[in-house]
Amino acid sequence: MFSSSVYNCNVIDLPKIHNRSGNITPIHGELDIPFDIKRVYYLYDIPGGESRGGHAHYRLYQLLVAASGSFDVILDDGRMRKTVSLNRPNVGLLITPGIWRDLVNFSSGAVLLVLASELYNADDYIRDYETFLSLIAKQNYSG
Ligand code: TYD
Repeated sequence: MFSSSVYNCNVIDLPKIHNRSGNITPIHGELDIPFDIKRVYYLYDIPGGESRGGHAHYRLYQLLVAASGSFDVILDDGRMRKTVSLNRPNVGLLITPGIWRDLVNFSSGAVLLVLASELYNADDYIRDYETFLSLIAKQNYSG
């Protein structure tokens, strides 16, 4: 079904066009990031101490960017965990399919920009952690 590792979820340095009046970060699907962009959304007004995420996806690729402020992303492939702190608007975190993610430690005023490879599809979510682990175990068993 999916063969995923937190090792494939890399931080990507995005272009930054800098001048005296500020910065621009353009992101081209399939050029600056390894997927075509079908959807963009952003999270904001996140209450302090709140956490988000708590799910995995079957097919979706995402790039997470701290457009403003900072937060931590805990990635989990069912075997390994790694935590990535995002706090720069010209750095993105690639999340491949089959990775459980929790988003924590949002700074006040943080804006989380998400570029996504698919349109919204509720059926693409795995929202139960035990189900996630059993899907991975099944896959390892069947090779
Ligand atoms: P969810 O993806 O669970 O948020 P997060 O991972 O940031 O905690 O989505 C929260 C709610 O918003 C859920 O009811 C589905 C809805 N939603 C959409 O309708 N369209 C979208 O593109 C997204 C990302 C969420």
